[in-house]
Amino acid sequence: MRTLILSHESTIHKRMSDSIDYFGGNDAIFRNKDLLQVKYLPDEDRIIGRNEQLNDLGSSLRPALKGQTPNHVLIYGKTGTGKSLCSKFMARQLKTRAAADDVRVGTAYVDCFQDSTETQAVKSIAIQLNDDAGGELRIPAAGLSTGDYYRKLWTVVDDYYDVVIVILDEIDKLDGDNVLMQLSRAVESGKLTSSTLGVIGISNKIQYKDTLNERVKSSLSEREFVFPPYDANQLRAILESRQDAFRDGALSDAVPPRVAALAAREHGDARKAIDILRFAGEIAEDAGDSVVREAHVNKAHEREEQNRVADLISKSTPHSRFVLIALANIVQQRGDDEAWVPTNDIYDVYRTVCKGDGAEPLKKRRIRDILSELEFLSIIDQDLRGKGQGQGNYMVNRLSEVKPTIVIKACADAD
Ligand SMILES: Nc1ncnc2c1ncn2[C@@H]1O[C@H](COP(=O)(O)OP(=O)(O)OP(=O)(O)O)[C@@H](O)[C@H]1O
Ligand SMILES: [Mg+2]
Repeated sequence: MRTLILSHESTIHKRMSDSIDYFGGNDAIFRNKDLLQVKYLPDEDRIIGRNEQLNDLGSSLRPALKGQTPNHVLIYGKTGTGKSLCSKFMARQLKTRAAADDVRVGTAYVDCFQDSTETQAVKSIAIQLNDDAGGELRIPAAGLSTGDYYRKLWTVVDDYYDVVIVILDEIDKLDGDNVLMQLSRAVESGKLTSSTLGVIGISNKIQYKDTLNERVKSSLSEREFVFPPYDANQLRAILESRQDAFRDGALSDAVPPRVAALAAREHGDARKAIDILRFAGEIAEDAGDSVVREAHVNKAHEREEQNRVADLISKSTPHSRFVLIALANIVQQRGDDEAWVPTNDIYDVYRTVCKGDGAEPLKKRRIRDILSELEFLSIIDQDLRGKGQGQGNYMVNRLSEVKPTIVIKACADAD
């Protein structure tokens, strides 16, 4: 019996090793693909063209080096302009520099899209800081009230740190501004007694600040910075500084400039550039090729566009999606992917879309705001047209280098 099993096992074994390699065998392309992942935090020498922004951040946070309260900072900028990267990088630098002077700096990073409620955000900050300090306090992952999590947080900060920097990324996704109120006023309200705390808020919604109540607004926006898009040369340098993700000779010379030019077309978006490069490598890998060429880049661009739009749309509000569906439908009907559509026409179709969804349409003024947010996110383009002699102006909109079918599908998937 035993021999039988053994021989049966060895046949299976043999068959598997003779069969197709399901894991793929082409490792001619990448040497270290991690360098092209968004979560990879590059060293200083790989951060291109952000000296001014890093200096601004550095001077805002400098008091923390001496254990004093840093300025709260708000960072704005379009997608892929290095906001998250530079904030995380500076937080890490600060920690290292301060440690050399025996100042205990703690940092916590919250992705407010993931942790959008007050409780989730406070819990996440408390747990990160506690873990970093060796986890002496017991902070359960569930079961405490919001107030209890705040109390844990103040204890951790006071007990283990001199200064804490909290990065609230995608801050506009936070539900309400109570977290900001508590954090930005933790010292003056006496919640923290021996330590201090600074907030870095990051958003790609330029109108974000207008939604805050006056007290939060005045304490939070001590320093505001806008990160500009990269130009094609900077994007190219960013890509070239990550070339060692590829094996020698696996990247054709024409590829980085081509990718940089594509990524600079709407606004200079480094995430887009890096994603296209990674996708191009994967497409070459899947095709069994040993060199990444321009043809792979074109396919990669298409894939990146779909991903980016799907990602932005999945994070947008239902009414932004209704507006996009309206625009995409009009564009599709006209049979011209680049057709310009007046805001009034979009508004009419938008109302129908709302009706179909059982939602109450928003006022036209809100739709104008939504369209300008979508423009800032580079999903649409806008242009102001004159009606002719003294007749005033009107806005026209079009999808920005993205096909209406992709938009409609992404909106349907996001529901
Ligand atoms: N100056 C730079 N030098 C090198 N790499 C960069 C630079 N700026 C951004 N990157 C890289 O581009 C990608 C996107 O950057 P980052 O996540 O900081 O963008 P962001 O401004 O936070 O965008 P979003 O608003 O979409 O969150 C990351 O992989 C990052 O490492
Ligand atoms: Mg970011």
